[in-house]
Amino acid sequence: MAKYKIAFYDAKDYDKNSFMKSNEEKAYEISYYDTRLTEDTCRLAEGCDAVCIFVNDDINRNVIDKLVSMNVKLIALRCAGYNNVDIEYAYGKIHVVRVPAYSPYAIAEHAIAMLLTSIRRIHKAFIRTRDFNFSLNGMTGFDLHGKTVGVVGTGKIGRIFIDICRGFGMNVIAYDKFPAVDSGIKYVSLEEIWEQSDIISFHCPLTDENRHMVNKDTIAKMKKGVTLINTSRGALIDAEALVEGIKDRKVGAACLDVYEEESNVFFHDYSNHIINDDTLARLISMPNVIVTSHQAFLTEEALTNIADTTLENIEEFFENEYSKNEVCYKCAMVGSCDQKHNKKCF
Ligand code: NAI
Repeated sequence: MAKYKIAFYDAKDYDKNSFMKSNEEKAYEISYYDTRLTEDTCRLAEGCDAVCIFVNDDINRNVIDKLVSMNVKLIALRCAGYNNVDIEYAYGKIHVVRVPAYSPYAIAEHAIAMLLTSIRRIHKAFIRTRDFNFSLNGMTGFDLHGKTVGVVGTGKIGRIFIDICRGFGMNVIAYDKFPAVDSGIKYVSLEEIWEQSDIISFHCPLTDENRHMVNKDTIAKMKKGVTLINTSRGALIDAEALVEGIKDRKVGAACLDVYEEESNVFFHDYSNHIINDDTLARLISMPNVIVTSHQAFLTEEALTNIADTTLENIEEFFENEYSKNEVCYKCAMVGSCDQKHNKKCF
């Protein structure tokens, strides 16, 4: 009999491939479901020890209550961010683990890929040359060398992004709520990020405090023609304000791997449908906006690390007192969790 039973929600083919491979030895009983975890789909986890979820499963109070009533002990996030889980309500009821790092390179490199694509018009060139249109009109880009990039969030991903930018000869300035001492990073205020940056890239978590940190007022403070890159979480940017900023020619380009209303759209094929989200449709219609569908993490290396770490988290949680990748709302308040991961958080 399998040691642990896991209900795996929002499963895609690439998830199944990597988890099946990682699970060969452990042989846990994993049931893969296409559907997201919601109040209605909780019952699929009946008899399971854990649920495994991704970025757009909405783990609100009702879902937590249902999981607890079914004796599910663990929510295993197969991602780093946990803004989709009500961790304050979960505290004391059900444990939450995550994969804090699986390949920060994947995300930082994707941010750079989007930036280069945008400023050198590669997305346009790809379509033009396929049509044997070799005209260069409208394709003028700009050098990255010598430009100022403002990096918001200097954790694992932000720092790799900074290293790559330095390789291009860019002038890097950064803002972090908790600046890293002796890191050699030039920290400035958020105001200075808005005012001085030619390019701004977001690598911080989404919190109540920084929701819509890019809004009408902050866009007004930015340099004309600024390029915005968001591979973090969609709601850092007020998407309607961004549309207006682009229409006003204030924002020169936007590279978006995340979008605040992405949960209803991203990861699905709507190519034969009429999209209901007018803001997203407007953004996609703009020649200076590139949207990828929360794809920054999607490399072989990252998928393998995600699967390995998630299954290790589950094993560690059920077999040890210790659960190093646990999150609780006290952990989230930087270090205020008494257990500090030497033990389970409660
Ligand atoms: P990390 O925890 O290593 O670094 C986050 C940094 O943000 C820390 O230095 C922290 O002090 C700083 N920070 C916290 N609150 C802030 C605030 N209000 N303003 C400015 N800085 C703040 O996290 P990591 O691994 O670098 O990931 C960053 C974010 O990238 C994640 O929170 C997640 O939202 C996103 N992400 C996106 C993926 C994708 O596929 N698009 C995949 C993985 C992560």
